[in-house]
Amino acid sequence: MTPNDVATDVPPLNADRLWASLRAAAEIGAWRSPGVQRLALSDADRQMRDLYCRWCRDSGLQVRIDRVGNIFARRPGAGSLAPVMVGSHLDTQVAGGRYDGVLGVLAGLEIVRWLDDRGISTRHPIEVVSWTNEEGARFRPAMLGSAVFAGTLGLQAALDQRDDDGLRFADELERIGYAGDNGIPGAPPHAYFELHIEQSDVLHRRGIDVGIVTNAYPARGLEIRVLGRTAHAGATPMHLRRDALVGAAEMITAIEALATEGDGDGRATTTRLELWPDRTGIVPGEVTLTVDHRHTGEAELEQMARRLEQTVAQIAARRGLELTCEQLWEFGAGIAFDPGLAATARRCAGELGIETLAMPSAAGHDGYWLATIAPSLILFAPCVDGITHNEHEEIEFHRVLRAVNVLAASVLEVAGQ
Ligand code: GLV
Ligand code: MN
Ligand code: MN
Repeated sequence: MTPNDVATDVPPLNADRLWASLRAAAEIGAWRSPGVQRLALSDADRQMRDLYCRWCRDSGLQVRIDRVGNIFARRPGAGSLAPVMVGSHLDTQVAGGRYDGVLGVLAGLEIVRWLDDRGISTRHPIEVVSWTNEEGARFRPAMLGSAVFAGTLGLQAALDQRDDDGLRFADELERIGYAGDNGIPGAPPHAYFELHIEQSDVLHRRGIDVGIVTNAYPARGLEIRVLGRTAHAGATPMHLRRDALVGAAEMITAIEALATEGDGDGRATTTRLELWPDRTGIVPGEVTLTVDHRHTGEAELEQMARRLEQTVAQIAARRGLELTCEQLWEFGAGIAFDPGLAATARRCAGELGIETLAMPSAAGHDGYWLATIAPSLILFAPCVDGITHNEHEEIEFHRVLRAVNVLAASVLEVAGQ
């Protein structure tokens, strides 16, 4: 079979089998129906991993696990070439949906099952990968597993992360039985593909079923600590108060307003608020804000970051509050996806009669870190009304299936016959 024969012979994949896998996964950590809460290294995560590994082994894949719990399931190739990796993540947000991450992993699994059905072998091995703690909902930072694999984040720093209850990443990984011994950082693959729901409404609105991600919004996380002075909530006269929470409230709305300055295409949100002493009868003395801000380009983000720091400093000064700002994380800046892989995906889509749209990603993905070590490509599938990080995340499966088929055709072409 020549690659051209394959391209025209590609799909349909086994849609019923992929749908059944997605349905089974949605049962694990099911929460606030139809949502899913499957935090990294929780019991639900263990259950999902166990099921996934069983599926992989049942398909004859060789399963390896590395020191941060990333799972690699390999279908051997003809020689000892580097694998074509395809995957995403199995953990979810606190208010998670049924498709963010898991779609990319199970699409990868469906591709190797489909190659088996067809008796197609490839030159490069195909490795389906599930990255640990993509969401960052339990352990910081987001995209932890892929960052360690790519050598961007040190192994020890990852192992030492603690959740809000003080539980250590390494201990929790051990507890759920996924502290593997595969080396870190990992060997760069021949190529990396990730399919993900778009998490915005562009594809859904425009009726296009495949997004080809060209670039990433640079994003930063900032911790702002606001120090005021505790006081009696009743007795202390208003003019004597230095209320950290009221100052923080003003900052929160000012930060939100920064997103729509200029071309209006920024993003700025206070995602987290920690308050002390957080008790009735006392004026709040200390507030910590976690702020997520992103923009279309590095210069735009830098300008937004400067405006943000000025704005919160002015509010603090006016209210007699002290302030410290610390950057917690950043990703997306300078990330480039591979034009050759993008061309392959576009061509495969064309041969399948499927329209594509080149677009940026404002959400972080494991593919960002993989792009720093190997040719990488992220494909988007539409999600209904762009609703995500929400239990009502929804897809139209027939549309997503087209994106899975483009993924399959692209992976097969790059893995070679
Ligand atoms: C990660 O998924 C992010 O966009 O924060
Ligand atoms: Mn995701
Ligand atoms: Mn997510």
